[in-house]
Amino acid sequence: MARKIIIDTDPGQDDAVAILLALTSPEVEVLGITAVAGNVPLELTAKNARIVCELAGRPDVKVFAGCDRPLRHALVTAEHVHGKTGLDGPRLADPVMPLQPEHAVDFIIDTLRAEPTGTVTLCPLGPLTNIATAFEKAPDIVGKVQEIVLMGGAYFQVGNITPAAEFNIYVDPEAADIVFKSGRPITVMPLDVTHKALTTAPRVQAFRDLGSKAGTMVAEWTDFFERFDKEKYGSAGAPLHDPCVIAYLIRPDLFQGHHVNVEIETQSDLTRGMTVADWWGVTDRAKNAMFMGDLDADGFFALLVERIGRL
Ligand code: BDR
Ligand code: CA
Repeated sequence: MARKIIIDTDPGQDDAVAILLALTSPEVEVLGITAVAGNVPLELTAKNARIVCELAGRPDVKVFAGCDRPLRHALVTAEHVHGKTGLDGPRLADPVMPLQPEHAVDFIIDTLRAEPTGTVTLCPLGPLTNIATAFEKAPDIVGKVQEIVLMGGAYFQVGNITPAAEFNIYVDPEAADIVFKSGRPITVMPLDVTHKALTTAPRVQAFRDLGSKAGTMVAEWTDFFERFDKEKYGSAGAPLHDPCVIAYLIRPDLFQGHHVNVEIETQSDLTRGMTVADWWGVTDRAKNAMFMGDLDADGFFALLVERIGRL
């Protein structure tokens, strides 16, 4: 049976590839897509999510707009990585499919209340504002969540937006703190693993060689955001962060990690948003997250190409 998921996202080219992977994979059933402010402001992430659904030939997918700013701090965006639209690269037409009238937070609450306990997995690909707001507004739903599989944080790779913090957690550390303290099973795709999901030239060419609109889009998106990361890291390509979350649901065997304690720094100006992971088990703090550290990158890209190739 397909695993029911809600994708909470701030597209973002890598979010877009994650959504395409989900919509082409029978192992998951996308109950809805909830947009949050992150890489770019909410108006654009809500629009981009619909552009991607239409590209996947799925204008029937319900897309909701959620929180337009983090719980306590001003929004920090990442146009320097993703471009002004969030999906810079190929020329994209505005979506025709509508945005749902309901607020994303209410959709998350209503869905978790309506579905049997332990059957809905949350897949956050951006700042955790929508998820934390839903948990605060309706504490009764927390125990109903099957699992939270999220992209965020880092341990060995430390930070990408500050020396200490990864972008998604840095933008809304208070929200992340609520989620990591929720008591639900959490699987984390930190930079430690996503920095191994590198879009090298042959891997991007494999998308282009699909010869389809979707294959070309993915290649052009990765070409665009690569330029920033290649310069920053001196690497052969850019990390395709967010698709790791969906790939894990389909092929968990591609990933390896440790079940550890993860706490979020919310106080320090210097290290705000740091994910303090007890990777070596040096404290007796309760283990609250499966923190991934490695992936089979060739297997991951083979899966992506095969699934995008279905479009
Ligand atoms: C994360 O931040 C965003 O820029 C990406 O979409 C990804 O979710 C990586 O730090
Ligand atoms: Ca994202």
